[in-house]
Amino acid sequence: MKNFDFHNPTKILFGKGRIADLNDHVPADAKVLIIYGGGSAERTGVLGQVRAALCDRTFIEFGGIEPNPRYATTLNAVQAIKDNDITFLLAVGGGSVIDATKFIAMAALYEGDPWEILTSGSSKVTAAMPLGSVLTLPATGSEMNNGGVITNPEKIAKLPFRSPHCYPVFSVLDPELTYTLPARQIANGAADAFVHIVEQYLTYPSASHVQDGFAESLLRTLIDLGPKSLETPEDYDIRASLMWTATLALNGLIGAGVPQDWATHMIGHEITALNDTDHARTLAVVLPSLLNDQRGHKYEKLLQYATNVWGINEGSDDQRIDAAIDATRAFFEKLGIKTRLSDYGIAAAEIELIVTALQEHGMTALGEHNDITPSDVRRILEASL
Ligand code: NZQ
Ligand code: ZN
Repeated sequence: MKNFDFHNPTKILFGKGRIADLNDHVPADAKVLIIYGGGSAERTGVLGQVRAALCDRTFIEFGGIEPNPRYATTLNAVQAIKDNDITFLLAVGGGSVIDATKFIAMAALYEGDPWEILTSGSSKVTAAMPLGSVLTLPATGSEMNNGGVITNPEKIAKLPFRSPHCYPVFSVLDPELTYTLPARQIANGAADAFVHIVEQYLTYPSASHVQDGFAESLLRTLIDLGPKSLETPEDYDIRASLMWTATLALNGLIGAGVPQDWATHMIGHEITALNDTDHARTLAVVLPSLLNDQRGHKYEKLLQYATNVWGINEGSDDQRIDAAIDATRAFFEKLGIKTRLSDYGIAAAEIELIVTALQEHGMTALGEHNDITPSDVRRILEASL
């Protein structure tokens, strides 16, 4: 296991009715900007609960954060902060709203052009406004981590950021808020969390027994509860475990001290930038093909994955690896997620656009060994058609 720092300052308020606890966790003298998405929070009544819980605090609202949040919209929110002397940000929504809120929190205090936060690394960020979140969609882990992703359609770019200043101060996780989610978003969430775990687990052995065991347990939980959460949408216990699994998948715990991959995510981001395909669906297309392509590097972990996650013990080593990759694809398909590029309107001709975009964004040495080159990505995508 490598040396590591582990520090996660986000307080989790988990369970039914926890929105009411906002009153104890938002500073009493705060001037709050509530940030939300395209209207689901209003329709489902979550915003109403938030307004009630903020009691007599001063707040204004900024709606309209898009799925795959847009850079231009975040700048409008920064202007609203400056115009209204806001002191605290409260994100109400899924990963897109929380990611956008983190970026807004940094951009509001940034001296230079905020675009630099996405292009020159976030190390120039020295402060961010305090933010909290009310999570309505279990998927990204954004509610308990310090990263996010912002899309700029004019530049055909979807770029990640990370900064220690971006952790939410608190996040409310009420599983009942997920009951209103369409099946498509629950499926996306289970698939996204699954791939987050795989990106931190399925690399090469590093004597990280606790992280491996924890990751395998989280993967088995998603394989079991992902489909069940679609079959019985208002089963509280299933939604509660799904929600907590998605948070633990990307709050730093299973990734501490272990090699990490993230190639599937970086390739997937370029597919979303190209045609706005849902984030999780891009991952379901890339991952099976990437695992097959990189099986040489990942051989030992693929065998461990076959045994400990899928219970595949019969056949030769190569047959077991084939079966584990097939089972991974079948899991996504069982959730109702298609796993081929052609299912999302991408043909062979567009692969070059994706490869070129990765190069333009400096993503030319991906994977746990930093050795997945643009021509490797081309081959992986051709096998995903
Ligand atoms: O916009 P509204 O009207 O709120 O509707 C949303 C949106 O259309 C809807 N929704 C959310 N909660 C709902 C609901 N509808 C009914 N009932 C509810 N309770 O769901 C739709 C999708 O929401 P979105 O926030 O876009 O989904 P998700 O949470 O999957 O977030 C995806 C974004 O997160 C980024 C992705 O790249 C993508 O931009 N990621 C962030 C990460 C991080 N911060 O660590 C890691 C991930 O790998 C990922 O890249
Ligand atoms: Zn993801």
